[in-house]
Amino acid sequence: MQITAHNIHLTIDGRDILNKVSVDVPSGTSVAITGPSGSGKTTLLNCLGLLLPVTQGQILIDGVDVTKLSVARKRQFWRDNVAFIFQDYGLVPDESVGFNICMESAPILRRRKGWGTRVDEALVKVGLVGRSADQVAKLSGGERQRVSIARAIFKQARIIFADEPTASLDAVNRQNVHDLLLGEQERGATVMISTHDDHLAAACDEVARL
Ligand SMILES: Nc1ncnc2c1ncn2[C@@H]1O[C@H](COP(=O)(O)OP(=O)(O)OP(=O)(O)O)[C@@H](O)[C@H]1O
Ligand SMILES: [Mg+2]
Repeated sequence: MQITAHNIHLTIDGRDILNKVSVDVPSGTSVAITGPSGSGKTTLLNCLGLLLPVTQGQILIDGVDVTKLSVARKRQFWRDNVAFIFQDYGLVPDESVGFNICMESAPILRRRKGWGTRVDEALVKVGLVGRSADQVAKLSGGERQRVSIARAIFKQARIIFADEPTASLDAVNRQNVHDLLLGEQERGATVMISTHDDHLAAACDEVARL
């Protein structure tokens, strides 16, 4: 899916957080959003991912202005098309790894708590073999980050927003996550990655700096 933002503006409490930001991400390509801490990378991804309303500007997904959708339609769009890797991981700490991986896209598996082979496959990809029954609260920061990446991969979404997806990882896991995200692009997903990691940014098709 193509994502186009025209002159997005976001003001919070009288402060301009995003000031006329425009970006165009053709379907099936990857873009890295870079810029110093506090420059608005997370805010931009949240706006493009419809988690935060913009003050002004248009966000077109495959030509449809999604800022105009009702809350229910936005939610449905999200459920059907979007996977988000949050900077703070966005996991439910009291629940298991398996629950967190299924929670968005496979509610039947989530209820059954028999996670099945697709969850195991996602865990293999992020180097967490056999950890589906572990409670998230007991994982390290880097392990949690990899669970959030496994959840996004599991969803097979058409758009992936990844907010600093390698921030808590060692060099080997960072490289693995690069490969996984670019593998999602090869599958046909449009991938937007906010990052301070120059190596990851360089691997994307485009780099947009805030
Ligand atoms: N809900 C909010 N209310 C007020 N200010 C906010 C809110 N969300 C973000 N901001 C402000 O917007 C600015 C951009 O924040 P954001 O988290 O998007 O930066 P970032 O580029 O992702 O930074 P980092 O690299 O540290 O993750 C910051 O100055 C932050 O204080
Ligand atoms: Mg951020």
